[in-house]
Amino acid sequence: MKLLAYNVRTDESMFFQTFAEQYGVELHTLPYSPTLENAGKTEGCDAVSVVTTSITKEILEKWKASGIRCVSTRSVGFDHIDIEAADALDIPVSTVNYTPASVAEYTVMLILMALRKVKTIIMRGSVQDYSLTSVRGRELRTCTVGIIGAGRIGEAVIQRLRGFGCEILVHTLKPNEALAPFVSYVPFEKLLQKSDVISLHAPATAETKHLIGQKEMEKMKDGVVLINAARGTLIDTQALIEGLESGKIGAAALDVLENEKKVFYKDLKYKVLSNRELALLQSMPNVILTPHTAFYTEEAVSDMVEYSILSCKYELEGRDNPWRVNG
Ligand code: COI
Repeated sequence: MKLLAYNVRTDESMFFQTFAEQYGVELHTLPYSPTLENAGKTEGCDAVSVVTTSITKEILEKWKASGIRCVSTRSVGFDHIDIEAADALDIPVSTVNYTPASVAEYTVMLILMALRKVKTIIMRGSVQDYSLTSVRGRELRTCTVGIIGAGRIGEAVIQRLRGFGCEILVHTLKPNEALAPFVSYVPFEKLLQKSDVISLHAPATAETKHLIGQKEMEKMKDGVVLINAARGTLIDTQALIEGLESGKIGAAALDVLENEKKVFYKDLKYKVLSNRELALLQSMPNVILTPHTAFYTEEAVSDMVEYSILSCKYELEGRDNPWRVNG
């Protein structure tokens, strides 16, 4: 099998080499994103590995014409790929289910950082302000935490939260019996009304766009803490800004943001930010903003590369592919 991997970072290279050798794959890597202009690079290859850059119908058509037989994304989410077009072209698409501990541990960290006002404490320390004014926090054990979406990552967050002694409410499409002793499964509205902290773990789909908007925020407790390490589109950013300005939202910790792609993973020092919402949120003392880094651990990167190579191998060998999302 000949695999072309796009967007290969230097920290992924070693894993690509190791696993390509282990699974007998001929590997070609490119450091940049796929575009219509460079789609012809796949000529002579059987499979493509990508990350979260947009994969349009036109790119897929070019790949198909060049002989590509499957596409794998080294991410859990696949909202960046035109799945309908892949279906029409009969191209199998797969994701990877890397260790959920990566995002789950980061989520717990964000919850604690938001509750303990750590952004303000650290920023003050950098100007030698060691005062206690306004930085009194709240203990997680006294909070009700609402988890929206309890797939692999939501479940891993719940397992970690158990040790803190907080009450856990869950709203999810497929309740998991194994979690029932530790959580209360509740309707969406009840979760909004009763939670002190709300953490989102749903995929980005047409149905989940602006799952949390002005109407939903109005139903929440005053001072609620919102956590999003899933996808930016789940929250209506304008409504969030208004909620933070009015004080309805007490704090937010966001690892993802709507329209993040032009900004995240880029060094924009000395540049005027093109994303006004990001600039505004970043200026707020009660908003923690990180650039889509929750997944980024050594263990997760290794899994991403290994499972991406394996899923292409399974497809081409006609074996069952546990990571396939279409067809
Ligand atoms: C995902 O796996 O879906 C992520 O959001 C991480 C990605 C940036 C590699």
